[in-house]
Amino acid sequence: MNRLIFQSNEELNKAGAGLIISLLHTKPNAVLGLATGRTPTGIYAELVKAYRRDAVRFDHCRTFNLDEYIGLPREHSESFFTYMEKHLFSQVNLSSSQTHLPDGSAADPHAEAARYDALLNSVGQIDLQILGIGHNGHIGFNEPSGALTSATHVVELDERTRQANARSFSSIDDVPTQAITMGIGSIMKAKTVLLVVSGEDKAEIVHRSLTGPITTQCPASLLQTHPSLIVMMDTAAAKLFR
Ligand code: F6R
Repeated sequence: MNRLIFQSNEELNKAGAGLIISLLHTKPNAVLGLATGRTPTGIYAELVKAYRRDAVRFDHCRTFNLDEYIGLPREHSESFFTYMEKHLFSQVNLSSSQTHLPDGSAADPHAEAARYDALLNSVGQIDLQILGIGHNGHIGFNEPSGALTSATHVVELDERTRQANARSFSSIDDVPTQAITMGIGSIMKAKTVLLVVSGEDKAEIVHRSLTGPITTQCPASLLQTHPSLIVMMDTAAAKLFR
């Protein structure tokens, strides 16, 4: 595990984007695993800046997002599809044929999860998987549980996850109760995993995940066994490591 601590979010975002840019330079057809949420927005902003100054291009890469809410139309302002369009896809040269997310508005979410899983398996391996972490230790939407699922699947969102994500909805009642998420198997199969953590509110969970027992009750703890894990934290998130 390679643990990196940054003095500012700006430095962290630049380093995160830098890792993706170097990968695309050495492997232009890389497969990127992407996350949504508060954590990676700064990294995406840095990628957009780099694209505008011609420091990176996305012509040959493909992207696969971790998850999507069930029940929101793709165009809904809070869907992860809309998030990705807004923060990255529409701002760089990534066309819709290169980018993939589960379709949370599919009539049969279980069939959609199976379709997405088959698509992921057809690419073989994600080169670089970006992850945030939930306050309960979730990665993707693999919530703490007695058992974890390897393949893409339908999940019931934890109440804590719904509360955390309610900030962008008008009320908690509008936050979907279910999502489709990449399973732990696909995440762990990625060649390299980049876990990005910022803010003091994540200090306890990231410390427990990376130094505590490996347990399905804290899905991020499984990352301790990943052969190529890079953790980028700001000083607030890293405070229990010092
Ligand atoms: C998002 C995802 C989630 C988030 C996590 C942290 O696609 O899969 O696991 O990474 O909930 O969210 P933020 O970054 O909003 O704190």
